[in-house]
Amino acid sequence: MIKVALALLVATATATSAADISCLKCHEKENALYAPSAHAQAGLTCLDCHGGDPKATDVTAHATDNFKRPDNKKAIAELCASCHGDVRRMNPYGLPTDQLDRYKTSKHGEQLFAQNDQKVAVCIDCHGVHDILKVKSPQAHVYPTNIPQTCGRCHGDVKLMQEYKLPTDIITQYKSSYHAYMVFEKGDLSAPTCVTCHGSHGATPPGTAQVGQVCGKCHVRQRELFEKSPHAEAAAAGLFNECVSCHGNHGIQKASVELFAKTCVQCHAKDPKQLQLRDDIAGLIRRAQDGCSNAVTVVHDATVRGLATDDEELLLQEAKTQVTQLEAMQHLLAVDQLQPVVKRSDEIVKLTLADVADLERIERWKRHALTPIWAFLALMAIIFWAKRRQLEQGRKP
Ligand code: HEC
Ligand code: HEC
Ligand code: HEC
Ligand code: HEC
Ligand code: HEC
Ligand code: HEC
Ligand code: HEC
Ligand code: HEC
Ligand code: HEC
Repeated sequence: MIKVALALLVATATATSAADISCLKCHEKENALYAPSAHAQAGLTCLDCHGGDPKATDVTAHATDNFKRPDNKKAIAELCASCHGDVRRMNPYGLPTDQLDRYKTSKHGEQLFAQNDQKVAVCIDCHGVHDILKVKSPQAHVYPTNIPQTCGRCHGDVKLMQEYKLPTDIITQYKSSYHAYMVFEKGDLSAPTCVTCHGSHGATPPGTAQVGQVCGKCHVRQRELFEKSPHAEAAAAGLFNECVSCHGNHGIQKASVELFAKTCVQCHAKDPKQLQLRDDIAGLIRRAQDGCSNAVTVVHDATVRGLATDDEELLLQEAKTQVTQLEAMQHLLAVDQLQPVVKRSDEIVKLTLADVADLERIERWKRHALTPIWAFLALMAIIFWAKRRQLEQGRKP
């Protein structure tokens, strides 16, 4: 208890000394942003970045030799890295110290350090200046759900992007994508935002050679299958942009069998063999999907009518698994490998339908078997009633 009180006292004492510096008297606006920041929480003050005289109560506070106001992006990167590139300083916090080195390999960093281009992003454009929060804080500018806005400040700026001949619709494309739907509507942070695909500090567009690796980091199975497909060789030779050729990059939508109609023809319009293959594969997938959804309806109807369909529900799960497997396996573009899965799916559907038919037969039988029993009981009741009446009438004088 005493220890806690002491610790609190010490903490208040350091906080007071930090709050005592004269800078805060004139710079309330900056301080309001700064106070909740990760830097303030770690005990850093204005002096750590700006220098100056913390005792002076007039503008001579700025008159010291060490006073600085970094206004060039290179100087800012170097200021941040003076601590964040220093292993000894960052060790207690367990933070990596490679941000500047990585940044220099990004298009942003290359442009800044080689061309002195002041329009690219530097540390403060992504993290903020005085309001830098821990990256895990949901309010941080670099928190996944804030990333599109952070990048969008420039990459959604049509005039700026035209200057660099870069697309101006990346942000809107991304926001319409299935990935964004997962992140923003479903709260699934395992789906990618800009920096998951591009890297944060080493931001470069994944070149043709690396695109598959980016998607394949998460879509491991699809990547493995693609590697065995007829396009793998063309991709290795740089003639085919792996996943992006069929799915796009920023505006990726939920995939469905309709994609076959849209994609193959873009490159194989004059290859009847390839288009035939496309139709065969799409046909197999449709057959399995339709079979499965028909079985789902039949089992559902049976359940509604009060039949006990627990076993059939299990079969349905199995049928759905086959369809899911098929939707991934089509990445092989090999009909002979898909056929066994479709066959198995067909069998499960057949079995399910037969099971439901059996259930219905039993139900009908139960109904019919009960009819004579009811009739017999009714007859007995009538006879009993008649007998009683007869007896009563016999007793009357
Ligand atoms: C007497 C009031 C006062 C005190 C004390 C004071 N400042 Fe300032 N400061 C100003 C004014 C006024 C400006 C110019 C307007 C502006 O940029 O906000 C300024 C500007 C600045 C700038 C921007 C300089 C530029 O070239 O754009 C920085 C950085 C700064 N102050 C930091 C500090 C720090 C650090 C301290 C404490 C060591 C401090 N100030 C103390 C009033 C003060
Ligand atoms: C982690 C480093 C860091 C700390 C700590 C810091 N600043 Fe700054 N400050 C900067 C950088 C970098 C800029 C330049 C921002 C820019 O060019 O947009 C800046 C800019 C300023 C400016 C110029 C006006 C502006 O907003 O661009 C003022 C005034 C200022 N700081 C005051 C303060 C005061 C007061 C504190 C303490 C409460 C403080 N700073 C703490 C890094 C820091
Ligand atoms: C293009 C945007 C961008 C730029 C520029 C940028 N960062 Fe980051 N930074 C991020 C994102 C996003 C994260 C969140 C973690 C991640 O995705 O790596 C991050 C994380 C961090 C972290 C937390 C530890 C870590 O490495 O994950 C530190 C510290 C950091 N950045 C410092 C810097 C410094 C210093 C610079 C300038 C040399 C800088 N950042 C430039 C986007 C950026
Ligand atoms: C004087 C040393 C120093 C300077 C200069 C400095 N930082 Fe920091 N930074 C720290 C310390 C210490 C922490 C606190 C780490 C903690 O509490 O986990 C920190 C935390 C951070 C974090 C949060 C990391 C996390 O844990 O999520 C980011 C992001 C960050 N700094 C970015 C910057 C940027 C951008 C600049 C330049 C404008 C900068 N820093 C300048 C020392 C510094
Ligand atoms: C301060 C403005 C600004 C911000 C913020 C910004 N960028 Fe950039 N970015 C640029 C500019 C300007 C270029 C053009 C550099 C060039 O191509 O010469 C660029 C280039 C790029 C490129 C390389 C494009 C190419 O092929 O040349 C990628 C990738 C990129 N940015 C991703 C991002 C991501 C991801 C974010 C957010 C985490 C982000 N940027 C935030 C200004 C910004
Ligand atoms: C699912 C992964 C993914 C996501 C998420 C993503 N990108 Fe990209 N981005 C790519 C790929 C792949 C390319 C390269 C396209 C190609 O090779 O055809 C690219 C290209 C770019 C380029 C260069 C465009 C060009 O034509 O040169 C910029 C700039 C860019 N992305 C910015 C962003 C921004 C900003 C966001 C967030 C709103 C974002 N990206 C989200 C994968 C992604
Ligand atoms: C950071 C991980 C990650 C990266 C990187 C990533 N994705 Fe995704 N992707 C997801 C998640 C999570 C989902 C939603 C869950 C699901 O359906 O698998 C998803 C969904 C999809 C879907 C829709 C799936 C469906 O059910 O119809 C497609 C298509 C897709 N991604 C393609 C790509 C492509 C192409 C790339 C590379 C340009 C890529 N993804 C990069 C995680 C990622
Ligand atoms: C972005 C262009 C592009 C798209 C889209 C595309 N392909 Fe290809 N495909 C190629 C290239 C390039 C090759 C390798 C050169 C060649 O054999 O024509 C290839 C090769 C093939 C081969 C091997 C041909 C052989 O003789 O070895 C098959 C099979 C094939 N594609 C089927 C398809 C199907 C089916 C689709 C749609 C699901 C499709 N492709 C979509 C560009 C594409
Ligand atoms: C030749 C065109 C083509 C290429 C190349 C391609 N896909 Fe697909 N992908 C499709 C089609 C068509 C579907 C829809 C299948 C269905 O649902 O009927 C699909 C479905 C998907 C799905 C959802 C179904 C599932 O498997 O869960 C994901 C995720 C996916 N693709 C990821 C990728 C990734 C990652 C790559 C790169 C390694 C890639 N795709 C390469 C055409 C392609």
